[in-house]
Amino acid sequence: MPEARSARLKRIKILAWVLTLLALLILLVSAYIRLRGAGLGCSPWPDCYGELLTGAANLHSGAARILHRSVASLALVLGFVLVAQCLRPFPIQPAARWATALLSLMIVLTFVGLFSSDPHRVWPGFINILGGAGLVLLSWRTALAAGADPARSSPRRPPPLLHVGLGLLVLTMALGALIGVRYAATACPSLPGCSGVAWPAAAGWSALDPFTGIVAAAGLGDAGGVALHLLHRYCALATLLLLGVGGVQGLARPATRPSAILLLVLMMVQFALGVLTVMSGFSLWMAIAHSVCASLLLAATVQLLTRPAA
Ligand code: HEM
Repeated sequence: MPEARSARLKRIKILAWVLTLLALLILLVSAYIRLRGAGLGCSPWPDCYGELLTGAANLHSGAARILHRSVASLALVLGFVLVAQCLRPFPIQPAARWATALLSLMIVLTFVGLFSSDPHRVWPGFINILGGAGLVLLSWRTALAAGADPARSSPRRPPPLLHVGLGLLVLTMALGALIGVRYAATACPSLPGCSGVAWPAAAGWSALDPFTGIVAAAGLGDAGGVALHLLHRYCALATLLLLGVGGVQGLARPATRPSAILLLVLMMVQFALGVLTVMSGFSLWMAIAHSVCASLLLAATVQLLTRPAA
């Protein structure tokens, strides 16, 4: 019986690692598709930015779309196999919980994908960006749960700062996703403020609502775009501070040190990639790296939060 369990755990671990890699590939390819066509990588820049919204030619790469669909379909099939491995003939916890959450998210994202053909709708793209990061997080957590020694996984109380930091991280990611799906990058091409503006004007706050649609890209100084950029930057700074302190506290314990180092490194890389995205005049590859690194940072934060103390 214990052998059967350890063989299943091994299979679960391999499957979950494969799914983590597939989730990263899906995230990368979908960021490429989103940004390449009428996004930051379009040509001639910046006149083409958001041209999808005006009904102009769709420059999306067909090959990237096929790759995205194939990888996402493979991931969905593997997601079902993973859950079956975790649940039958008896549930193996906590891997089964993470795997079930992963499969549920995959099904939700498949359903949301049905609404993503209309670029004027903001919410499907918004959910897709955050959901993509969720896929990386949940598949990584399943792999770690399958490899964890139950005897060492006694609960500990992580520093409250890390919980607040995680909340701020998710908020920062949501604001960044809104910049992308609202085609609002060009509203603020300067640093640290937006052409002398340091706080969002009252007219800009409605851009926070993902259920309002868009008709055109946000031009330079657009109130909604400026609000998103400024709030994204302020939240990123607060996240840097809180996760930074939480990470430094995690360095003190040998069991949490590797996760804390990973978190601190990813935090600094992510911040630098955000600044470089703006400084480079919104380089496509910088923005894609910024998107992928955000999901790794989310996974690293949750890993530090759930690591046993011993
Ligand atoms: C904790 C730090 C940060 C996190 C977690 C974060 C996360 C994100 C995420 C998830 C996106 C959406 C990417 C996508 O469209 O796929 C985004 C977009 C963006 N971020 Fe950040 N960000 C951070 C810091 C910064 C900083 C410091 C800046 C600049 C000062 C910045 C500038 C941008 C810009 C310009 C975009 C829009 C790119 C686009 O149009 O797709 N970010 N961010």
